[in-house]
Amino acid sequence: MNTPQPILRKACFGDGPAIFKCIKAHPNELVPRPLSNILLNIDRFLVAELDGEIVGTASWAVLPELDPAKNPSIEIQSVSVRQDLQKHGLGRRLVEAALERVSEFKPDQVIVLTFTPPFFASLGFTPISKDKILYKLYKGCMNCSKYDNPLTCPEVAMAYAPPNPKGGPA
Ligand SMILES: CC(C)(COP(=O)(O)OP(=O)(O)OC[C@H]1O[C@@H](n2cnc3c(N)ncnc32)[C@H](O)[C@@H]1OP(=O)(O)O)[C@@H](O)C(=O)NCCC(=O)NCCS
Repeated sequence: MNTPQPILRKACFGDGPAIFKCIKAHPNELVPRPLSNILLNIDRFLVAELDGEIVGTASWAVLPELDPAKNPSIEIQSVSVRQDLQKHGLGRRLVEAALERVSEFKPDQVIVLTFTPPFFASLGFTPISKDKILYKLYKGCMNCSKYDNPLTCPEVAMAYAPPNPKGGPA
């Protein structure tokens, strides 16, 4: 049987409740986001749609950068695939589409904080020290009620390190 192929597209306001549901379906891996937060950041969401239903999400946030010589970095967030459609390449398609979109902003780096490092490793992300993203930890983790210390919580910080197309050193 052929695996159904969801289409990827930019999100619109009407997708808000479905995005909320997708993120909420993965409470152990994803930071919950109120509907209001999703709607205020709707221009930073991609969705996967299958038969009129939202079955996958990916979004990003711009991180503060105090060094005027650097562009801000971007964090990939809220990557989700409906459980019955996992392991068919949709997560990869969503993250690759998000990376393509955010590359247009020329970020200093693209990072992710994840409980699923092998998935992001397969997409070209490599682990980095959490010391390198303290501003993100301060902003994103200060309200966490699950772990008492962002530096010891099991989420892994990773940065996108695309392979050099010429095959030489990056
Ligand atoms: C993580 C998630 C988005 C992956 O989506 P998916 O559609 O199943 O992933 P894909 O089929 O595109 O897999 C891409 C690659 O990652 C690997 N991979 C996917 N999920 C994995 C996991 N949980 N552990 C290890 N490897 C994984 C696949 O084997 C595949 O490797 P390959 O290209 O070498 O074959 C999905 O499992 C999910 O929604 N999980 C819950 C939410 C979550 O953990 N989000 C990520 C944190 S931000």
